Amino acid sequence: MPTFPVRTPSASYDAIVERGALAQLKAHIPPRAGRVFAVSTPDVWQLYRERFTAAMGGREFDVIEFAGGEERKRMSEVEVMAEAMLARGADRSSLVIGFGGGITTDLAGFLAAIFMRGVPVIQIPTTLLAQVDAGVGGKTGANLVSGKNLIGAFHQPLVVLTDPDLLATLPAREYVAGLFEVLKSGIIRSPELFRVFVERPASLLRREAAPLEFAIAESVRIKCEVVSADEKEGGLRRILNFGHTVGHAIEAETAYKRYLHGEAVALGMKAAIHISHLTGRLPADLAADMLTAIDACGAVPSAADLSVANLCARLAQDKKTLQGSVHFVLTSGPGETEVVSGLPLEVVREAVATAIQ
Ligand SMILES: NC(=O)c1ccc[n+]([C@@H]2O[C@H](COP(=O)([O-])OP(=O)(O)OC[C@H]3O[C@@H](n4cnc5c(N)ncnc54)[C@H](O)[C@@H]3O)[C@@H](O)[C@H]2O)c1
Ligand SMILES: [Zn+2]
Repeated sequence: MPTFPVRTPSASYDAIVERGALAQLKAHIPPRAGRVFAVSTPDVWQLYRERFTAAMGGREFDVIEFAGGEERKRMSEVEVMAEAMLARGADRSSLVIGFGGGITTDLAGFLAAIFMRGVPVIQIPTTLLAQVDAGVGGKTGANLVSGKNLIGAFHQPLVVLTDPDLLATLPAREYVAGLFEVLKSGIIRSPELFRVFVERPASLLRREAAPLEFAIAESVRIKCEVVSADEKEGGLRRILNFGHTVGHAIEAETAYKRYLHGEAVALGMKAAIHISHLTGRLPADLAADMLTAIDACGAVPSAADLSVANLCARLAQDKKTLQGSVHFVLTSGPGETEVVSGLPLEVVREAVATAIQ
């Protein structure tokens, strides 16, 4: 079974990627755990309640359902969940299980991080994005009215169970948005994964078992490796932000309504690829391969009406901004990255303008 270790100063645990991994759940519940609380959304729960219950193998548990959606990813929701836990007899020995997309795993992780100053959490991500990104790494949190993910905590899970079978029911648009993040992993750290996007994109789009499992496992491996080297995003973890500098600006400029996160990252990756080429890091043929690979995953809503000047102004406000200068993750080829700041504004402007056409 492909198992990837995460070893950070605060915790050591495994991310397991395997078809049917959900069925192993009971074996990962610590014998001394008290009440178990599964946090999920009604759609996921309706689809997978029976499989989840079977995976608990007769062990008693409670379900805490919340509506889902970015507007519900709020502290107030966490408080409601904590009250529900207490009402059902939770204490310091309780265990939380996040069972859903990235919104669920972020909120369930945050709930676990602060409930009675911290109880353990097991993450079972059910979207492609959450399987390759949100579910691994211990970043948890909620949105403020002023911005996304502005409150939160690092809280590493006991284990991450990643079951590609759960993706069969994922809507196509959500799936493609996740694929863009998988492609990102290939570009930053795995030429082999990148090659799958160049040579067999249709097999990924059809969700064929073998290439999909490889793509998820490779992305999870990379995330585990990077998080192990840099738990709190001081150095190496920043390479995971490839495509995110401009991607975040596009999400903010469209009020988080037009694009799914992965779609905005796809446009942001195009900008990063253009900058990499314009600054002499990335040869034209490799840049063309990368741009073709992005387009092969699927179309994203048009960005041609967005103002390049507004997007560039937003770049300066990105929370990843350090010491006043905008950082870009650039590439010189699959598996090769570099974090660069202080780029000439004209280069950024030209790259953004080309990317959103
Ligand atoms: N913690 C991190 O490191 C990290 C990293 C990346 C993203 N995130 C967060 O993740 C969130 C986005 O996650 P997301 O894209 O998974 O969105 P999401 O959680 O909203 O899930 C997308 C939709 O798919 C539904 N769904 C989930 N699993 C399904 C399944 N198997 N079948 C059918 N439908 C299913 C969900 O109910 C939801 O409607 C954002 O809030 C983002 O901030 C966190
Ligand atoms: Zn992302």
